[in-house]
Amino acid sequence: MELNIDIKNIIEEYSSCFSNKELIKASNDISSKYLNNTSNGNRMVTSKLQACAYGITRFPATYKALSTILEWIDPTLINESKTLLDFGAGSGASTLAVLDSISSIEKAVLIEREAEMINLGKHIFNAASYSQSIQYFNTNELINSLKYKSDIVVASYVFNEIDNNEKTKLLSTLYSLTENILIIVEPGTKNGFENIKNIRNELIDNKGYIVCPCCHNESCKLDNEDWCHFTCRLSRSKKHMLLKDAVVPFEDEKFSYIVVSKNEYNTNGNRIIRHPIIEPKKILLKVCNKNGIEQIVVTKNNPKFKVARKLNSGDLLNN
Ligand SMILES: C[S@@+](CC[C@H](N)C(=O)[O-])C[C@H]1O[C@@H](n2cnc3c(N)ncnc32)[C@H](O)[C@@H]1O
Repeated sequence: MELNIDIKNIIEEYSSCFSNKELIKASNDISSKYLNNTSNGNRMVTSKLQACAYGITRFPATYKALSTILEWIDPTLINESKTLLDFGAGSGASTLAVLDSISSIEKAVLIEREAEMINLGKHIFNAASYSQSIQYFNTNELINSLKYKSDIVVASYVFNEIDNNEKTKLLSTLYSLTENILIIVEPGTKNGFENIKNIRNELIDNKGYIVCPCCHNESCKLDNEDWCHFTCRLSRSKKHMLLKDAVVPFEDEKFSYIVVSKNEYNTNGNRIIRHPIIEPKKILLKVCNKNGIEQIVVTKNNPKFKVARKLNSGDLLNN
């Protein structure tokens, strides 16, 4: 699901107190901070100007990434969820994606350390008139954390900002707050996947059941030089294009992720982990399944051919 144009407009109107020149500079500054300054706990987006630049350029992408992941989760696992905890929530892109995808959610708790990210987030939720209970906490700790136990817990694009020495503690706290499903998203880079791989190992050791993308609970079978990541395409507004100096009105957002269930769950099937290669009489798919990583060929006389033709990287081909 794409971020609603009304929300983009709300963010752009909120940012209209800044000139394009100021927003472009802030957007460039944020990009170079994220390129050079991760996993050390440093503050990244601290002013209203930076929060606005982040809102215009990154909010639509993280919203789309989370919406895409939610489409890959077996609906029976999440459809009746009532509560959400969003850690490192920023201006609420992931919360918004969950609210727009899961209608049963009644209450969302957002934990964020940057006041200006929160101000923008509160402005978005008020202006868009969401009826669910939305509670923001301005903190960098999960204070009184047991109060916030939630059906779904999300941490999107956060672990790459957390100091390496703090990651294990944060993960175990988030996992202990999860009643049902924990979703962690990272940039689709080698470093982002490294975080996901470590998180995956720790959650399996703690009796977590992987829902996706992996189709097994064994160690990751991907080649050490490779990294598991997916892509979603989103449209860019004129302002977004201007800030990113873009020539096309869309962007491909790359992300790595893991979804883990606290309750017993077995994923069967084949997760497509690269863009399918479609030839006239066959489709070549690189997949993750119970055997590890495989190249499978679906030929035209295979009953699954019609279904397979419609699948993309990230989708599941049933056995
Ligand atoms: C890259 S932004 C992602 C925001 C949001 N989750 C999204 O996907 O759009 C990471 C956010 O995590 C917040 N953050 C990082 N470390 C934090 C901590 N220890 N406690 C609370 N928030 C934190 C940052 O302030 C920032 O707003």
